[in-house]
Amino acid sequence: MLWGVATSAYQIEGAAENDWTEWERQAKLHSSDSRCGKATGHTEKWRSDLSLLPTIGANAYRYSIEWSRLEPRPGEFDEAALELERERAGYLEQLSIHPVVTLHHYTHPLWFWREGGWENPRSVDWFRRLAERVGAALPGVRTWVTLNEPIVFVLGGYLGGMIPPGQKSFASAARALEHLLRAHAEAAAVLSARPGGARAGIAHNMLDFAPDRADSVLDRKLVDAGERLYNRSVVEALSTGDVRWSFPGEGKAVFSIPDLPRVTGFFGVNYYSRVHLRFRGLPGAVGEFFYRDPRGRGLTDTGWEIHPEGLDRVLRDAAKTGLPIIVTENGIATGNDRHRRTFLHEHALIVGHYLDAGMPIEGYFYWSLLDNFEWLEGFRPRFGLFEVDYATFARRRRPSADLFASLGRSVTGKASARRDAANGRRLSGL
Ligand code: FCB
Repeated sequence: MLWGVATSAYQIEGAAENDWTEWERQAKLHSSDSRCGKATGHTEKWRSDLSLLPTIGANAYRYSIEWSRLEPRPGEFDEAALELERERAGYLEQLSIHPVVTLHHYTHPLWFWREGGWENPRSVDWFRRLAERVGAALPGVRTWVTLNEPIVFVLGGYLGGMIPPGQKSFASAARALEHLLRAHAEAAAVLSARPGGARAGIAHNMLDFAPDRADSVLDRKLVDAGERLYNRSVVEALSTGDVRWSFPGEGKAVFSIPDLPRVTGFFGVNYYSRVHLRFRGLPGAVGEFFYRDPRGRGLTDTGWEIHPEGLDRVLRDAAKTGLPIIVTENGIATGNDRHRRTFLHEHALIVGHYLDAGMPIEGYFYWSLLDNFEWLEGFRPRFGLFEVDYATFARRRRPSADLFASLGRSVTGKASARRDAANGRRLSGL
């Protein structure tokens, strides 16, 4: 059982020339003077940051490569940047930490957009080339996430226009999604065919959905449509190879990538919260979504509901893929570490319960190791087991780091007991 924390390159290192730096220059973050800059200063501190992992009882670490640094010009890979990734993976090996490497975590080189981005069918070849080069540079990496949250990315970038490339068109979003999923299939095939074998999955953001008015048929229908668009389309795609992506009043896309189930080695779930949907009517926006706080626990600092039961629901849906499941992200933004401890405890209980029930959960990653740059929200939300002082880049351990270690002992202990029992049954021929 993998027990670890997750980060992404841009959010802790910054220091890149990519589409997000452009976005920041155009003052498109919620706080218009926000810049990622050097983020948490991880570029200088990466070794000491990674040395924190064994101290929080982690046996795994999910992180991403920064595409714009590795391939600053199309087809030209930067040897020094590849070497740094080799060193990083080598250092994790020395620490006995299992690396989980994400190839695409929201950011892109600028040339990628000049060439047409994900609407260009050639994006599939560019992404395969990236997987080939990074895969060859990191032969010891056995677990890969090709894409982080493709649905969030296309909804935010191609339909809502909130993040790069800032478009607002369902047809463009659908084209981008098709190429992203084809790119996943190609990259996953490349990575799993490498000598020694490896597996690749997608980290899919799943929300729990509820009708805003429990007695409203229209709110319930909207929930069904929202779940299909957001959660189930990817679950179905990875189980069957058929993609049906649609939303009332927006559009519909149907396509097929028969290889998807065969080449995907696990299903990653990023779970944070529940949303309530309320029907508004056509024409225009069909509905609205809200984060509610029905139990008066308070919303998180990103305004999200704390709803551990939702993890239970989305895991059941994820299990329909028939793939091993890894919770690739789960976390809370809060300045109150007591709330983080309650959050961790409640979500780990659900993971433990699923292991007891024989579910194929093979990993859990808390978001995040450190406070970091939270995209449109800038540096205000605090997700870290370690606090970052942005004036000095000093790290300070939060008490939740200790709880994370002890929960890890209990959850991974359950997983090994289950494995031993299964081996025992096999040996005794039962
Ligand atoms: C997820 C993203 C991650 C981080 C967390 C809070 O959706 O994958 O980069 O921003 O949310």
